[in-house]
Amino acid sequence: MILLKNGRINLNNKLVKKDILIEGDTIVKIADEIKGDGIDVKGGYICPGLTDIHVHFRAPGFEKKETIKTGSMASAKGGFTTVLAMPNLNPVPDCLENLAIEEELIKKEAVIEVLPYASVTVGEKSTKVSDIDNLKDHTRFYSDDGVGFSDYEVLDEALEKIKKYDLFVASHAEDKILRYAPAGEYEAVRREIAHAKKIGVHYHLCHMSTKESFDAIREAQKEGLDITCEVTPHHLFLNENDIKNPNFKMNPPLRSKEYQQETLKALLDGTACCIATDHAPHTEEEKSQAYDKCPNGIIGIETSAPLVYTKLVKTGIATLDQFEDWMSNNPRRLIRLPLNSIKEGNKANLCVLDIDHEHIYSKEEILSKGKNSPFIGESLYGFNMLTIYLGNIVYQK
Ligand code: NCD
Ligand code: ZN
Repeated sequence: MILLKNGRINLNNKLVKKDILIEGDTIVKIADEIKGDGIDVKGGYICPGLTDIHVHFRAPGFEKKETIKTGSMASAKGGFTTVLAMPNLNPVPDCLENLAIEEELIKKEAVIEVLPYASVTVGEKSTKVSDIDNLKDHTRFYSDDGVGFSDYEVLDEALEKIKKYDLFVASHAEDKILRYAPAGEYEAVRREIAHAKKIGVHYHLCHMSTKESFDAIREAQKEGLDITCEVTPHHLFLNENDIKNPNFKMNPPLRSKEYQQETLKALLDGTACCIATDHAPHTEEEKSQAYDKCPNGIIGIETSAPLVYTKLVKTGIATLDQFEDWMSNNPRRLIRLPLNSIKEGNKANLCVLDIDHEHIYSKEEILSKGKNSPFIGESLYGFNMLTIYLGNIVYQK
């Protein structure tokens, strides 16, 4: 039994003081006051457990960068209770045997819900479709993130299976020749939307960052196509003028101020339905190389909530409802998981954000193995104090 005292929950965009009683894995009572000893959360914002559909946890294969244990602990620190882990691993989960290795690690090490993406193509090489016929019984989630598709006949074949089995596909859209240029993203986006339309399948686009991409997605949505996309905190809150060191290097890269504004616009008008971090840890050794030599990727799972809270909610640009939608409800709807609403009878998956105090994010506090954050030294509100996953405390400051 856990009793949370003096928390506040969001009711119609207003924070209202409530005590919350958790028994087993369930929220059993929410009331103005519940008698008894408990954890005093001191006015903290009790928020539905956050969900990130795009993280890289690097295991199996790249455990120097991150493991399921460190990645899931960092996620719990960030307020997340569910994350989806990308398949650019070694071995790539493109068949049951390979996926089983990752599943075993998740079973042993994860402190929150970690759901694996299998790859769409064998080895993420775009030459042959993964063993989706058998993988489908183990995971609904498919991506070739980190690489993207280059053979559209193979993609069509994969999309047919994804449609047939009612699975979820998330695409890293990148033209193999234009690469990191804005057109490298939006040309691939336009092509892939056309393929999704032809096959008639729900198609999700990862980390969108250009106006032309958002326009193509808007258009498709208007036409009634089931095209969705996510945006990242870094594309929302940084642009190319902010680049200081390799911890500002990722793919897609930080773009112009105009594209940054278009990213926020796409989130606010609903073109993008959720925020995903693309948490991509690398070792300090890798990231201390020269800017053009070091790998793409930044961590993000520990700073997503405070960034979005401070820069969008505290400023009045967005509401608490929007915050909960982008960070929890919408990603869960997208992947068809039950919502983590703070309601009696619901599973106790929640976090408690300290929205009254400013905190300077420091390298020392980072739980991820990767220390590659562009937000170190940033002063933010809304850092998470406590995470409960299925009734268990998985993070407490
Ligand atoms: C990702 C990684 O490191 O796995 N890096 C990144 O900058 N996003 C791969 C990717 O999605 O490009
Ligand atoms: Zn990607």
